[in-house]
Amino acid sequence: MSRTLVICKPDAVERGLVGEILGRFERRGLRLVAGELREIDEALASRHYAEHVGRPYYGDLVKFITRSPSLVVVLEGPAETWRVVRQMMGATDPTQAPPGTIRGDLGLETQENLVHGSDSSESAVREIALFFPDLAGSAGT
Ligand code: CDP
Ligand code: MG
Repeated sequence: MSRTLVICKPDAVERGLVGEILGRFERRGLRLVAGELREIDEALASRHYAEHVGRPYYGDLVKFITRSPSLVVVLEGPAETWRVVRQMMGATDPTQAPPGTIRGDLGLETQENLVHGSDSSESAVREIALFFPDLAGSAGT
């Protein structure tokens, strides 16, 4: 078993798509182990998106992710659940994401692309600890 972090970003909450998105993961068989609707502040955004600091889109990304609440969840499933989630999300640019994926079915904007998922076992461990410190140390890979 392994766990990964998923964020239904502000656009997903604003558009009323949280149920649609989480429903896809649940129907696939992934289990919800933690969840919180929260406004991500700049400090947390800069830690979560540390690898993007300095990119041309970084300022806008922080404005977007902090503008209204996100639904942050931890999902559990088989080994490398993060990979299953990433496949279901589709490409970062929704116009390149195939139909059947969350971004490919529900989005068109690279920034406002609805959903975040950890991109490796190491990221899953780091991100779960960042958002849910009480779960730190539980299997993230
Ligand atoms: O989210 P994902 O891992 O697919 O993509 P990323 O390359 O790690 O970028 C993180 C997030 O930054 C994306 O999901 C977009 O919301 C945003 N982004 C952006 O606004 N403009 C870009 N050119 C690339 C990413
Ligand atoms: Mg990423």
